[in-house]
Amino acid sequence: MKSLQINTFKEYKEKYEQSVSDPEGFWSEVAEHFQWKKKWDKVLEWDFSKPEIKWFIGAKLNITENCLDRHLETIGNKTAIIWEPNDPDEESRYITYRQLYVKVSRFANVLKNNGIKKGDRVCLYMPMIPELAIAMLACARIGAVHSIVFAGFSSSALSSRINDSQCKMLITANEVYRGTKPINLKKVCDQALENTPSVETVIVYRRTVEPTEMTPGRDKFWFDELQKVDTPCEAEAMDAEDLLFILYTSGSTGKPKGMVHTTGGYMVGSTYTFENVFQCKKDDIYWCTADIGWITGHSYIIYGPLCAGATTVMFEGVPSYPDYGRFWEIVDKLNVTHFYTAPTAIRALAKHPLSLVEKHDLSSLKVLGSVGEPINEEAWHWYNDNIGKSNCPIVDTWWQTETGAMMISPIAGITPTRPTFATLPLPGVQPVLMDERGNEVVQKSMEASEGRLAMKAPWPSIARTIYGDHQRYKDTYFSAYKNMYFTGDGAYRDASGNYRITGRVDDVVIVSGHNLGTAPIENAIDEHADIVECAVVGFPHDVKGNALYAFVTKYDDCKTSDEDLKIEINKLIASTIGAIAKLDKVQFVSGLPKTRSGKIMRRILRKIASNEADNLGDISTLLNPDIVEEIKAGAL
Ligand code: WTA
Repeated sequence: MKSLQINTFKEYKEKYEQSVSDPEGFWSEVAEHFQWKKKWDKVLEWDFSKPEIKWFIGAKLNITENCLDRHLETIGNKTAIIWEPNDPDEESRYITYRQLYVKVSRFANVLKNNGIKKGDRVCLYMPMIPELAIAMLACARIGAVHSIVFAGFSSSALSSRINDSQCKMLITANEVYRGTKPINLKKVCDQALENTPSVETVIVYRRTVEPTEMTPGRDKFWFDELQKVDTPCEAEAMDAEDLLFILYTSGSTGKPKGMVHTTGGYMVGSTYTFENVFQCKKDDIYWCTADIGWITGHSYIIYGPLCAGATTVMFEGVPSYPDYGRFWEIVDKLNVTHFYTAPTAIRALAKHPLSLVEKHDLSSLKVLGSVGEPINEEAWHWYNDNIGKSNCPIVDTWWQTETGAMMISPIAGITPTRPTFATLPLPGVQPVLMDERGNEVVQKSMEASEGRLAMKAPWPSIARTIYGDHQRYKDTYFSAYKNMYFTGDGAYRDASGNYRITGRVDDVVIVSGHNLGTAPIENAIDEHADIVECAVVGFPHDVKGNALYAFVTKYDDCKTSDEDLKIEINKLIASTIGAIAKLDKVQFVSGLPKTRSGKIMRRILRKIASNEADNLGDISTLLNPDIVEEIKAGAL
């Protein structure tokens, strides 16, 4: 593929201008770099009031031909994926583009052989092993829609996601090792499958030699299935607007939202941003430490890097095993040039002795990236000084599951960076700040401004809907401001137009880089027979970024001790959502502050949890203002 990369800041500004004044011209030039079975009749149609967004209308393509087939002649023997196992003594795996092409095609035939057709939904609940990449690409090859569920989620979180999109098949592994802990994924699946009537077949990859319980007729081993099929598999011709995947993300209320991404626009958006933000060159080794169960893994471990013909690293383990130097050991061993991680990982690693960094040679590094939450000044400097040796640009990339691709980010080595700032919008991205009254904050020259971050116009990889609930898509993203996409984030903009994302303005809390809606956590707590009601808020945490604080009222006749109740509540949360939603603090209170209409005043609780109770504002309009003193006095 000819390079899509911008080379100078001047060129960035020109491209940006063009992308705003002539979006269709700009994106059709970008799209020319890809392989289409049929080109588009029209680049873009959109109407945020419906909302309806279509890119590359009438075009036909298969994203796997762009990730695999078209590279065969030019870089067939180049390593596509380097897999680094959890256990440093186990061997790494190197998979070339040609080998990946063969594996994907063959597994695509396994899917077909098991009755999966274009449009069917397939759920993947897998560890970070190459077979996850193979399975997702195999789905894309035949036009099946993958729905990847992070393998740390509980069985009930898994079953509700399977049911929401009526998946016909589940692909998993028997077990996985993360750190020293073996996790039996198949058991979690078996529990989930007790109430997922849509699933007909389960394919199990044997990651370990442990015996695995299989349900006859339903469960099949990956290797057995491979024996039954041939390799070649023609890539299905997909309409640009056909579904590529569904990925669930937490909402501030209710059940998780199945964000729908379609084929053409997502491919163009993820690849264009990958190429530009990271500026990878021919022999670079790129490593994104995210899990493929999150959007970062979808766009920047698999689709973006593979479409761009890069070498992408997949790591099975955790940053702390066998010690807190593991990331740096891998960078050294594989000569990683591009390293992309989350602030929460940086903060956790910065807590450990620098000798763990210093004993490894990090001189291969050229570019560092950050994603998932605001990076604080201290973490930014630690990353810059100790990992980048003040020699690697840091790209602080702001984006979302819903945006599919990076939106506001420096272009490595080209955009001047500023600590804690995601800096400037990438070409095609038109951010605006909105004030409390819903008006656009117009920037006066030489003046900084602040507001809620929204987007004026669509970009190719924007999610098209929430699976099965278009109304919720409209309500969540397009109702706050007329004809705009609302991000849910607040932002500050300096006098030169650089953005710093200040965090969520809704009831989503980002804990260790994972989005958690507080409502589902509250629902889980309320399940407990001793609990009357509760409110969960986030509070700042020096490693996790945010942690969870629950204010809980219990029945008067509750016999359980507070300590035990706390353990039981956390167990309930672990089983309904997953261990990532564990509460750090639980305060038992005799009541929650409420408005006269009965709404819990989370604003007040957030301040108390964050230790900012001196400045609660006017509380006289509350139904029960006295409760505030009690809660303040007992704050943890
Ligand atoms: C937050 C992850 C500040 C933000 C790609 C957003 C960030 C949410 C950054 C989306 C960043 C992501 N600086 N905040 N560089 N990147 N966020 O859907 O609040 O898991 O709305 O997508 O993470 O999280 P999601």
